[in-house]
Amino acid sequence: MNQAARVKISALGTYVPPRVLTNADLEKLVETTDQWILERTGIRERHIVDKGVATSDLGLEAATLALAERGIGPSDLDAIIVATVTPDMLFPCSACLVQHKLGAKAIWGFDMNAACSSFVYALQVGSGLVASGVHKKVMVIGADIMSSIIDYTDRATCIIFGDGAGAVILEPANDSLGMIDFLHEVDGSGGSSLYMPGGGSLNPSTHETVDQRMHYVHQDGQAVFKFAVRKMAELCEKLLQRNGFTGKDIDVFIPHQANKRIITATADRLGMPAERVIINIDRFGNTTSATIPLAMETARQEGRLKKGDLVLLAAVGAGFTVGATLLRWAY
Ligand code: UT7
Repeated sequence: MNQAARVKISALGTYVPPRVLTNADLEKLVETTDQWILERTGIRERHIVDKGVATSDLGLEAATLALAERGIGPSDLDAIIVATVTPDMLFPCSACLVQHKLGAKAIWGFDMNAACSSFVYALQVGSGLVASGVHKKVMVIGADIMSSIIDYTDRATCIIFGDGAGAVILEPANDSLGMIDFLHEVDGSGGSSLYMPGGGSLNPSTHETVDQRMHYVHQDGQAVFKFAVRKMAELCEKLLQRNGFTGKDIDVFIPHQANKRIITATADRLGMPAERVIINIDRFGNTTSATIPLAMETARQEGRLKKGDLVLLAAVGAGFTVGATLLRWAY
């Protein structure tokens, strides 16, 4: 696969809202304990927006930082893709809202929803736009306000999720660094394991759908867990193998942050030592589309992501969706 080999990530910006929701705070809302949450998920705290803040606002913050890092203006972009399951509203798409808030002129954009795999899927689509030669700079934003669709009386889900955003800029690579390969799969048979039944065309919002709490995330945690552990490793292995690598060749593994146990089980299966695995779920929880750019930022801040590093990204989410990206960090 080779068209994507000519595309690199040239900038990164991330943002989480300032308000922190700790495990101790959740102990006051549902029957749970800090110890249970920490042991079963690895999460200590997550960031949550205040009322009135929308996904496009978080995306805007991350986008602004990425543009500043690259030293370009919003109108230098050709397109914006917003990866999200929590758009400000069903339409218009959040990409239009971010474009407008940024003040970008003469660009286009759209949203992508593949649940927690949205960011890695959008990376391939954005890379394709650049690789086609038609676009020089495409921004991919992963942003979610999971607190807007979480039932804070359901202890099985409310402990997991948080809010946040990350943005990267994709552009042509002049050397051998950048995107190497992508591998994605969906398995719709897992649809009923993680879903939000209300508010769509099947169950438009009514008093009844709200009374039945259909506007919240519903999850069979164990089913998702089992699929994630099996499939994420399987897909990563396949991607590594077809590019002549093994898990031992990876300098930095940046997985979706859904559960610390899923991450360590996947890394173990791939034969990766713990020091090469980026984990920040303790501070942010599962921010869905934002976990991977937030983890890139953590890797960078900790000095664990250097130019030329072989990086593996991996995600799994509702759908089921699963995806992996192999790249050489380019700056
Ligand atoms: O991006 C994809 C998004 N989702 C995921 O990746 C989720 C993947 N799944 C998971 O992370 C885990 O399945 C959970 C963290 C959701 C749950 O952990 P688990 O170890 O699978 O727990 P469980 O659902 O098997 O429940 C074990 C026990 C149950 O009690 P009983 O029936 O054994 O008495 C639950 O009722 O733990 C109970 N429980 C809790 N206890 C304290 C469930 N949630 C909680 C809680 N606090 N928050």
